[in-house]
Parts: sequence; C-alpha cells; structure tokens
Amino acid sequence: MTISAGADRAWSDEAIRRIDAEGNRSADTHLLALPIPESWGIDVYLKDESTHRTGSLKHRLARSLFLFGLVNGWIREGATIVEASSGSTAVSEAYFAQLLGLPFVAVMTRSTSPEKIALIEQYGGTCHFVDDASEVYDAAERVAAETGGHYMDQFTYAERATDWRGNNNIAESIFRQMEHERFPVPEWVVVGAGTGGTSATIGRYLRYNRYPTRLAVVDPENSAFYPTWAGGSAAVGQPSRIEGIGRPRPEPSFIPSVIDAMIQVPDAASVAASRHLRSFAGSTRRGTDEPAASGPELLRVE
Ligand SMILES: Cc1ncc(COP(=O)(O)O)c(C=O)c1O
Repeated sequence: MTISAGADRAWSDEAIRRIDAEGNRSADTHLLALPIPESWGIDVYLKDESTHRTGSLKHRLARSLFLFGLVNGWIREGATIVEASSGSTAVSEAYFAQLLGLPFVAVMTRSTSPEKIALIEQYGGTCHFVDDASEVYDAAERVAAETGGHYMDQFTYAERATDWRGNNNIAESIFRQMEHERFPVPEWVVVGAGTGGTSATIGRYLRYNRYPTRLAVVDPENSAFYPTWAGGSAAVGQPSRIEGIGRPRPEPSFIPSVIDAMIQVPDAASVAASRHLRSFAGSTRRGTDEPAASGPELLRVE
C-alpha cells in the first residue's frame, strides 16, 4: 500500500486558507437602484460585479474554480494553471494563481482588449493568443499538456464549481441585498451568459428557495445560446462582439432548462446600454442612487 497524502494536503490546506482569507477580507459588490422614469412603472436594480478586488466580473467564479480544483486534488503545488477565456475570467484567475504562487497562462483571441491583457500580466500571468474564439479550447488543453499543468475549463465547470444553494453565491447576495426594498422578491432576474454558470446558479437558487421570480437571459447577436434554448438542440454560432457574453458553441455550463425567457439583444443596444450604465455606475460612487420608479419587478421583459 502507498500512502501519498501528507505533503500535498499540507500545500492544498494552505492554498484553501489563503483563498478563504481573501474572501473574508473582501466586501460584497453593490446592488445599485437605477434611476428610471416613474412612468415605466417598475424598479430596476443593477448588480455591479465590477467592484471586486480584480475589477473583473469573474472574481466569484475564479474563486470557486480554484477551490473546486483544490478540493478535487486537481491543483497541486507548482502546477501551471491554464484557462481559455475572453479575458475577464483570466484576469481574476491570474490574481488567484499569484496568491497561491502558481504560474498562469491565459489562452485568448488576439482581439482581447489591451486593458485585460495588461491586468493579466500585472498579476504575473502570461497570454497565449489564437486567431479565432473557437480555437481557445483545444489550445488551452495543449498548453496544459505541454506544461504538465491544469486546464481550469471554466466553460465546463462553472455551473458545478459554484454552490447553487447559497454560500454567498451571487443569487444569495442579490436576495439578501433586496431584503429591505419595498418589493424584496423581484419578478425577474436578468443576466447575460458567458459560460452559463451565473444563469445556472441563479435559476437553481430560485427553484431551490421556491421563489416565484423568473430568470431571463440576454444574448448578443450570433451567439449559440439563444438558438440552443429556443430549439432544444446544440446550435452553432459565431464569435461574439460583446466581451464576456455570447459564445460560438453552447457551453456545457449553459443549462437551458432553468431559463424562463431568452432575449436576443442587438449588439448596438448592448454597447449603448453598457456606456450608459458605466456613466451611471461611476456617478453612484459620487452621489445617490435612489429608485425613481415604482413597481414590483427587478426588470419587466416585454
Ligand atoms: C457582462 C456579463 N454578463 C454576464 C456574464 C456571465 O458569465 P457566466 O455565464 O460565465 O456566468 C459575463 C461574463 O463575463 C459578463 O461579462
């Protein structure tokens, strides 16, 4: 009989402690009340996931993927961590890899924004570029094999690395922050899908807690998620113009059965909304964000 646990477990115990300590030092992200015209008859809130430590929307996911890899015994001392990403996940994973003293390689398309590349490098990561979004999966597997490292594979594991029952996941955070609003249980939660992990977590959380809230997922032009949800089969799409959401293939973490409605949003509208919301989110760091409208919904979809 061979017993191998000792040294390995001591390293992973320390790695988990460091990640938990980082979480314990961190504050939750804001749930902002959007000022919208009273005549709309609804209240709209914005969960601002950009206020995490790394400024990336994928900070929660990166934390969960590292913990999942550690408790599975997949992430070991000295292992190179490799990820296929459109940028945001890689930023947060580079941060956690640095926290654990592990090398990190992000596999991304050449079109990834220079700001994201700079952040990954700032956290000690390196970038490996491919021409097309559909190439990132094979390239990441190859880099992991060549370095003897671990391919995180957010597109497969996002939906299962996060505890959908709670444990401070994004759904529990939203519902806790809604508690003292005049309508604490939203009629709709609306989210985009990159891996599909966030929508899977929110959809499961709603059902598990028996909330009447419905889940809508917005999808950019040419993404494979919408036709997969509408047609029930795995559709083929094209690379997305909207960073972080929409995919050329329906990812394994995308769970259509928890989604009540899907909406295809024109890319011009996505860009316009993000510009508008960025100026609003910036202004809330200076002023107030009291709701201007009335009504029970987080967002009504028509
Ligand atoms: C704007 C935006 N919305 C939603 C998501 C949801 O991501 P996921 O489906 O991977 O949980 C992302 C991912 O980066 C995003 O950038």
